[in-house]
Amino acid sequence: MALRGLLRLGEVAVRVLDMGEAREHYGKRMGLHEVMTDAAGQVYFKAWDEHDHHCLVLREADSSGMDYFAFKVFDDATLDELEPKIRAFGLQVERIAAGVYPKSGRRLQFMLPSGHLMQLYAHKEQIGNSLGVRNPGVLPDEGVIRGFRINRLDHALLGGVNIDESARLFREVFGFDLSERLIDAEGGQSLALFLSCSTKPHDIAFVLQPTPGRFHHVSFLLESESDVIHAADLIGKYRIPVDVGPNRHGVTRGMTIYFFDPSGNRNEVFSGGYVHYPDTPTLTWDTTELGHATFAQDNVVRESFLTVLTG
Ligand SMILES: [Fe+2]
Repeated sequence: MALRGLLRLGEVAVRVLDMGEAREHYGKRMGLHEVMTDAAGQVYFKAWDEHDHHCLVLREADSSGMDYFAFKVFDDATLDELEPKIRAFGLQVERIAAGVYPKSGRRLQFMLPSGHLMQLYAHKEQIGNSLGVRNPGVLPDEGVIRGFRINRLDHALLGGVNIDESARLFREVFGFDLSERLIDAEGGQSLALFLSCSTKPHDIAFVLQPTPGRFHHVSFLLESESDVIHAADLIGKYRIPVDVGPNRHGVTRGMTIYFFDPSGNRNEVFSGGYVHYPDTPTLTWDTTELGHATFAQDNVVRESFLTVLTG
């Protein structure tokens, strides 16, 4: 299919305990570009190779976790088409006027069965990736690609209840494919579901948790696997807490590293993974191979990776 409907995860809003520390982490160390502070003190960042104004919003709060996530859709007609379908699925939909969220057109907002606040928007101010759009060349000026050399926001993994229902919304209403799933080998229960609206192995994923609305991680794409090692070197240099050092996921086959921001929110940077097409069969992993499914280079099941979430 040509990519229409929901295009990509376009925005994640994360709560942090100390904005100064968060700015240092996401800006100076990871290398995202700080583009704006709003009247409420929320700080906005973009990755260098994104055209839209921002992809990450930080809000200082008493608890860490995620406020909401937002997908960009192809156009306003898509919002009009989706609103009654989301209602028919059984969710209440709130309309948010253009401009309520800075640099953004109107939005639809609804609560997923897993307990996560999701938004859809069709327009966000585009400020470019610094290369321009006519004869853009391939490399931005020195200093634009910096820190962890992050290309763009890629996906998020959310923990919650009723993940089968959240996945059903994405499949039946939003047209996503179930690219991979992890199930309990004995009962067959869904433990983690990976969903794609593109040729990526996943654009959003859910992991079963006893409580709704948890945040497992937000993930950013790097250009190469050597950049994963470069990021790991900087993580060590800056004494950033590591959850899982460089390794390869069985699920999605991405080369990954997991670490925590100063507020305890998990971040991932990764590179690689296979190409997903709409006719690619759903890949199923079960708990007899939990180690290989999660970290395929050493097959070690990591308790912290499975149990530490924020929100
Ligand atoms: Fe991830």
